[in-house]
Amino acid sequence: MNNNCNNYQYDVIVIGSGAAGLTLALTLSSETRVALVAKKVLTNTATFQAQGGVAAVLNPGDSSELHAQDTLNAGVGLCDEEIVRFAVEQGPSSIQWLIDQGIAFTRDTPNNSRYHLTREGGHSRRRVIHSADATGRELETTLAQLARKEPNIDIFENHIAIDLITAKKLGMKENRCLGVYILNTKNSQVLTFSAKSTALATGGAGKVYLYTSNPDIATGDGIAMAWRAGCRVGNMEFIQFHPTCLFHPDAKSFLITEAMRGEGGKLLLPDYTPFMHNFDSRAELAPRDIVARAIDHEMKRLGSDFVYLDISHKPTDFILKHFPTVHARCLKFGFDITRQPIPVVPAAHYLCGGIMTDSCGRTDIEGLYALGETAFTGMHGANRMASNSLLECIVFARTASEKIMATLKNTPYSNTLPHWDESQVSESDEQVVIAHDWHELRRFMWNYVGIERSNKRLQRAKNRIDLLQKEINDYYSRFRINSNLIELRNLALVAELIIRCATMRKESRGLHYNRDYPTLDNTQPPHNTVLRPENYLNNPKIES
Ligand code: FAD
Ligand code: SIN
Repeated sequence: MNNNCNNYQYDVIVIGSGAAGLTLALTLSSETRVALVAKKVLTNTATFQAQGGVAAVLNPGDSSELHAQDTLNAGVGLCDEEIVRFAVEQGPSSIQWLIDQGIAFTRDTPNNSRYHLTREGGHSRRRVIHSADATGRELETTLAQLARKEPNIDIFENHIAIDLITAKKLGMKENRCLGVYILNTKNSQVLTFSAKSTALATGGAGKVYLYTSNPDIATGDGIAMAWRAGCRVGNMEFIQFHPTCLFHPDAKSFLITEAMRGEGGKLLLPDYTPFMHNFDSRAELAPRDIVARAIDHEMKRLGSDFVYLDISHKPTDFILKHFPTVHARCLKFGFDITRQPIPVVPAAHYLCGGIMTDSCGRTDIEGLYALGETAFTGMHGANRMASNSLLECIVFARTASEKIMATLKNTPYSNTLPHWDESQVSESDEQVVIAHDWHELRRFMWNYVGIERSNKRLQRAKNRIDLLQKEINDYYSRFRINSNLIELRNLALVAELIIRCATMRKESRGLHYNRDYPTLDNTQPPHNTVLRPENYLNNPKIES
């Protein structure tokens, strides 16, 4: 529905075209008019880059109970047990839904009668269904193609959401999401979208760190927008560092899938000695926080820039069948995984916290949903188990879809919303400020709020983020926006939320390690770190 060239009205706006956004858009009924918005092209997502697969109970020797227990163990006391049980029980039907959409998962040899299931850290059974080592590419391209064919979905690529429009911001009493301001990055026009429901499926925030496996779009925009609109945000200190990204100056922290360790890959010191058994009895298949910290510890102890990952003892045809993408990519950088170990380092990979939601993706604001990596459903607790993220995206997008459809009929369209006001800003003559601040932020977050934290480091980070935010907010209020400025402002806010949560947690748990509190705090029950914005409105619907 298009009123005029700057004003758009839809039933539902879905911001984000990864696994969560595409699933939501495709499962809304054919009578629902949907705007699907993406910062870049549809397939430029973390989803596209997923390698290992999707975890679900698909094997007679496995059970929902085991999947739930493994997830709860990895989450170190902080998973929401009800949410975990719900998600794992929905696993098989979610995989069936993906198969029904045409996703080609790898089948088992020799007669191809079953799907091949791989293993990853923390899983006590083989339960990760995959498309070789490019599961995300298969999933993303298949769902994106379906979305492009769907007449009720209008696609807005190269459009970046700036901020939510809420009733509260317009001076009304109840807080409802009415729409969103969106910048068309091709012509720099800001458009006003209104909708009965808005869903944030904007992915993670890996770009807050200097080294990350995430794509450039991962700047925490959804979390920043939701926070500014009045939603609670929680558990932001739980940043997962993936243990094995390729160490090469031009590889942009290319991920080497955990499935490689699941299929027998060994981690070695620079002198080729195995070391993981010194840290955990599960060795290479310990949960990620343990493996990443062990690597970090050994690198620091030896003053080394990397450790090795070696799968070359496996037959070449096995490696080429299971890891064709990793093999090709590593060859580009001069490493042949069939013949030699490759240098790897940890990098920021996944954000366990985010916008607080219930099991239908509902946030604190009426009509606003959050799904996928941007949401904090309670599924992952203090540490996400491998391949549980795509599962979470699909499961909760499907439940949100049902909830949204049930509410649409009784929700009126809002009146015309005010246009974006640019009367007070001018063109910036100093874009260098943005590049400088962006770099500074990512560097100090890596050094002070990374794999190993301390009170002093967190305080240093806090001092710097306060200063940077002042500068960025001043710049934002004076100059015309562009996508770099929008992202920098969001990254700085997300960095602040991470630092605040990390400072509040006076213990080490799961992915959060503070060397001033190196153990679990057993004097009180495990608790989430919940931040409430100043304009937070009590909403009993999802009070925990
Ligand atoms: P994404 O797929 O990241 O999509 C985000 C979308 O939001 C994009 O379309 C982007 O353009 C859009 N967006 C963001 N901000 C804005 C804005 N302001 N305006 C408009 N659009 C916006 N998980 C697993 O379960 N299994 C795996 O094997 C696995 N492998 C991984 C490998 C890599 C290299 C990485 C980085 C992650 C991996 N993960 C894996 C994690 C998983 O891929 C992600 O958590 C998941 O794909 C996130 O999906 P999403 O839909 O929430 O967001
Ligand atoms: C991987 O393939 O190692 C990534 C899996 C994940 O992040 O879940």
